[in-house]
Amino acid sequence: MTYLRNAWYMAGWMDEVTVEHGLARTLLDEPVYIYRDVAGEAHALLDRCPHRFAPLSMGRRDGDVVVCAYHGLGFGGAGRCVRNPHGPVTRSLDVRSYPVAEAHRILWIWMGDPALADPMSIMDLSFLSSATEASFNNGYINGHGHYQLFVDNILDLSHTDYLHPDTLGGGAISRTRAKVMQRDDGVISIYWHVVDDVPTPLFRQFLPEKTDRVDSWTEVDWTAPGVMKLVSGAVETGGSRAGALNVENVHIFTPNTSVSTHYFFASTRNFGVDNVTLNESIRTARARIFSSEDEPMIAAQQQRMGDRDFWSLRPALLRTDEGAVKVRRRMDELIAREASELAINRNIG
Ligand code: FES
Ligand SMILES: [Fe+2]
Repeated sequence: MTYLRNAWYMAGWMDEVTVEHGLARTLLDEPVYIYRDVAGEAHALLDRCPHRFAPLSMGRRDGDVVVCAYHGLGFGGAGRCVRNPHGPVTRSLDVRSYPVAEAHRILWIWMGDPALADPMSIMDLSFLSSATEASFNNGYINGHGHYQLFVDNILDLSHTDYLHPDTLGGGAISRTRAKVMQRDDGVISIYWHVVDDVPTPLFRQFLPEKTDRVDSWTEVDWTAPGVMKLVSGAVETGGSRAGALNVENVHIFTPNTSVSTHYFFASTRNFGVDNVTLNESIRTARARIFSSEDEPMIAAQQQRMGDRDFWSLRPALLRTDEGAVKVRRRMDELIAREASELAINRNIG
């Protein structure tokens, strides 16, 4: 399967990788081993020894050297072979390494041309790092389905009214036409601004008692390949947004294989920021909703689609698909552009 290579993908949460414990994860069909050296700096290597293809994640650490468990080749952070117990160290023994960056509590990996990896192009998600510990909660699901099905799920939030009617839904999103905007910097935004409608069941419990009608907002900003910021909030009808209940989330999708996806999510809020119990209940509720309602639906969609291409099945398009279709077209463009640049470079080379 063809993936966009020159992009920052989320490989994991920063605290998933410690000096003691590395992380073996398949990303874009490639096995990757991420570990921290003694100084705590993160490195990512292809998790396949160049000798007889043993996973390096099964090896052991000797200081900063990753030692293959099978015949003892040793590798440094840039993938350089630094130890060969059986003969000379040569560059043919190097293993592929990937640029990594750490920002906003997230470990990012660049799966394409290392010369193009610029951490400044990572979406600004600094609200995650500035949140208090008791107002930050996160999670991970190993999802079954193509990553674009997971991305579609966030870009068409009318599904909340049907799939999550008792929590995230309630009807207002389906009654409101989304505003879809494509910005020059590549961000595609889908905003639902709801006027004088019912709050979602989840928000209702945080609003002042007897608040039955609200103005609310749900705003999704997407960047390639599948990084999304989702802001939602509500205030009694006619009230000001300044100081209103506001929740800032991320939903980030990284392909595992062509039919499975790493689903990372996190949430912060501007109320009850020191309330650990509230934080845990939000963490639990979100993990339950995503893993028992969204993920099974997407897995079932994928099963019905089999290995057929999404567009070849001629999906019926609804008004609510506008944002998701724009994003799919944008991804197709980026992937095609990357493939043609690669072909040009090959010809020149
Ligand atoms: S497979 Fe790694 S040293 Fe032989
Ligand atoms: Fe959902």
